[in-house]
Parts: sequence; C-alpha cells; structure tokens
Amino acid sequence: MKNVTAIDHPLIEHKLSILRDKHTGTKLFRELVSEIGAYLIYEAMRDVELEETTVETPIKTIKMGRLNEDNYAFAPIMRAGMGMLDGVLNVIPNAKIAHVGMYRDKHTYEPVNYFFKAPEDIGDREVIILDPMLATGGSACDAIELFKNKGVKKIRFICLIAAPEGLEKVTTEHPDVPIICAHIDDQLNDHKYIVPGLGDAGDRIFGTK
Ligand code: PRP
Ligand code: URA
Repeated sequence: MKNVTAIDHPLIEHKLSILRDKHTGTKLFRELVSEIGAYLIYEAMRDVELEETTVETPIKTIKMGRLNEDNYAFAPIMRAGMGMLDGVLNVIPNAKIAHVGMYRDKHTYEPVNYFFKAPEDIGDREVIILDPMLATGGSACDAIELFKNKGVKKIRFICLIAAPEGLEKVTTEHPDVPIICAHIDDQLNDHKYIVPGLGDAGDRIFGTK
C-alpha cells in the first residue's frame, strides 16, 4: 500500500510475539510498547531533513547533519498512545507534546474526541501521531484532521499494529500522511478489534481490565 511501511525485522517480530501474548503482564507490556515505539520513530524519520553543522571530533573538524528537534511535536492519541511517548522521547527528547483524547464509541465504533491540547506554535511543527492500534482508522483520520485544521503541513503516523481496513481508510483520506507500523495484521472482527491483534491496548498498558 502506498505510503505505508511495515518494519520487517526479526527482533520486532520477537518483541511483538511477547506483546501479543495474553499472559504478558502490564509492566512488561508497557515496556515493550515504549521500546517498539522507539524503533518505529527511527524508521519514521528516515527521510528527515538535517541541518548542516560543524563538529570538532578529537581528530578532525567535519561538516555533518543535525536534527533541529524544535521542529517536531509528538501527538499521542490517549489513552494508548501515551504508552509510546517515553520511547519516542528517548530518541527526540526536545520535541513538544500535543495531547489528543479520543475513544471509540462502544456501539458505533466511531471515535469521540474529548480532549485536544497542542503547543501554540503547532502549525509550524511536523507532527508525529502515536497510537499502538490502527483498527478502522477512524481515530487516526480524526486526529490527522485536527492537526491539519491547525495548519500542520507535515504529519506522520506511527503504530504498532495496523488492520488493512484502517490502512485503506487513512491512505485514501490522507494520502500525504506516511504510516509506519510494526506489523499489518489480517483483518477486523465483528467488534472492530484487530485479528490476531493484542486485545485492547489501553487496558493492557494501564491495567484497567
Ligand atoms: C484504541 C486505539 C486507537 C483506536 C483505534 O483506543 O488506541 O486510538 O482504538 O481504533 P480505530 O482505528 O477503529 O479508531 P480506544 O478507543 O480503545 O481508547 P483507549 O486508548 O482509551 O483505550
Ligand atoms: N483498539 C484496540 O486497543 N485494539 C484493537 O484491536 C482495536 C482497537
């Protein structure tokens, strides 16, 4: 699918096998979500533009690229996206944070936006949206819309597991937004959960069920 990258790496498969396991407890689950989030951000930033800087190594002075971290904001979709925040901040610690509160209605499975708080200069930043699960794609599309309405020009979306149905929706509605995921799963079930998936990411990160 155009503009979709699934990371194909044996260590990611290894980590996902533990994450998906229903016997994995809250602490380990949370650690893995954060750790895979860090891998994903490396992949998501592959095409990023660096600013030229001069570096004096102990041996020689050279010119090389450096990231201007002030150009970026991470946008976790709450709750589950919060689980990825530590991991990505370990990689780009000076990025600002925009919080997006979103839950899926129990009956319609449509997203409901209950919170939005972004840095004042968000329109000048590139935004990387974080959410472990892309299921129907409704939450992702609404979150992307919120940032486009604030004038954000460049958005990337990173998730752990994506369903083909959700990828189809997001890439159709927002073909300009690259999606980087750890794995593309088979399909959605009748309750719009990802199969095989990992269950409810928010509940497993926060231990609410
Ligand atoms: C989950 C997940 C996504 C959304 C994906 O959140 O973290 O935000 O569902 O589903 P969609 O692609 O069909 O919109 P949920 O609504 O369960 O809220 P939570 O993070 O508070 O548990
Ligand atoms: N949200 C989740 O947490 N898991 C799914 O499988 C679908 C939506």
